[in-house]
Amino acid sequence: MEIKRIAVVGAGAMGTGIAYQAARFGVEVNLTDVKEEYINNGISKIKGFVKDGVQRGKLDLKEAKVILDRIHKTPDLEACVKDVDLVLEAVFEDMKVKQELFKKIETFAGPDTIFATNTSSLSITEIAASTKRPAKVVGVHFFNPAYTMKLVEIVVGKTTSEETVETATKFAQKLDKTTVRCKDSAGFIVNRILGALMGEAFKILQEGLATAEDIDTAMQLGANHPVGPLTLADYVGLDIARAVAETLHRAYGDCYATPKILVGLVESGKLGMKSGEGFHKYTK
Ligand code: CAA
Repeated sequence: MEIKRIAVVGAGAMGTGIAYQAARFGVEVNLTDVKEEYINNGISKIKGFVKDGVQRGKLDLKEAKVILDRIHKTPDLEACVKDVDLVLEAVFEDMKVKQELFKKIETFAGPDTIFATNTSSLSITEIAASTKRPAKVVGVHFFNPAYTMKLVEIVVGKTTSEETVETATKFAQKLDKTTVRCKDSAGFIVNRILGALMGEAFKILQEGLATAEDIDTAMQLGANHPVGPLTLADYVGLDIARAVAETLHRAYGDCYATPKILVGLVESGKLGMKSGEGFHKYTK
C-alpha cells in the first residue's frame, strides 16, 4: 500500500516537522491536537518552516503554496483519522496517554490504516497491545528537526507484520529519509546510545568537573559532534530527555539512572530552549 494521506496527531515540534516534510514530498496531511490553540501554533510553526525553506532556496513560492494547501488542520479527531492510510502519533512520551489515544483513534480509523508512533523510547509492542490491530502498529521514529535530520528508525514490535514494516519503510523513504530497522527495545538504536552519552555529560557537570560550556566544546571539537550533548539536551527538551532517561533506567538498570541535575532543572521549569533556559540560557 502506498501512503498518500496521513493524520498527524500532536502539533508540537515533532508533529509539525513531520507534517511539513510529508507535505513537501506529496503526502496529504491532516493535523490535530487536543486544543485548537495548539493546532494554530503548529500551523504557524509550519508556515515558519516553509518561509525558511523559501529563504534558503529549497522551495519556490508555488511549491510553498502547494505544501501549505496539503496540510489540513482539524480539532476533530474523527475527521482527522477517518480516511487516512497511516496515523502518525507524536504526543508526549507517556505509555498510558499513547495507549488511550490509539484506543480512541481505533474507533474512527478504517481497518487497513497503519498506526505509527513516533515514540522516542517506549515499547511498540505495549502500544500495539492496546489496539485491535497489533500487526499494523509500528515505530516510525523521526529526529528533531524532522525535515533536516536524515534518519528514521523503523521499530518492529513483537506483533508488527512484515507488510506493515515494508509500508512504513517505503513511507519514510518517500519523505527522503534513510531508514534503519530495529527490534523493539527501550530507546531503540539512537536514544539508547545518546542516553548513555548525555547521561555522562550530565554527571560530569553534576560532579563539578567541568562547565557546561566546556563539556559541549569538548564533544564538538574532540569528537566532532555538530552540537555538544548539553546543548542537544536543551534542544530536544529536558522534559523529553528525562522521560527517555527514565525509560532507559527501567529497562537497563542503574547505569542509566536519571542524574539529579536533570530532574532538578525539569522540576524548576527549566526545559531547555523552549522555556529559555536549561543547561544554557537562551534569548527567545
Ligand atoms: N525547509 C527545507 N529545508 C531546510 C529547512 C527548511 N525549513 N531548514 C533547513 N533545511 C535544509 C538545509 O537547506 C540543508 O539542506 P542541504 O543539506 O541539502 O544543504 C539541511 O536542511 C541542513 O540545514 P543546515 O545546513 O542549515 O543545518 P545547520 O548547519 O543549521 O544544522 C542541524 C542544523 C542539522 C539541526 C544541526 O544544528 C544539528 O545537527 N543539530 C543537532 C540535531 C540533532 O542531533 N537532532 C537529534 C536530536 S535527538 C532526537 O530527536 C531523538 C529523540 O527522540 C528525542
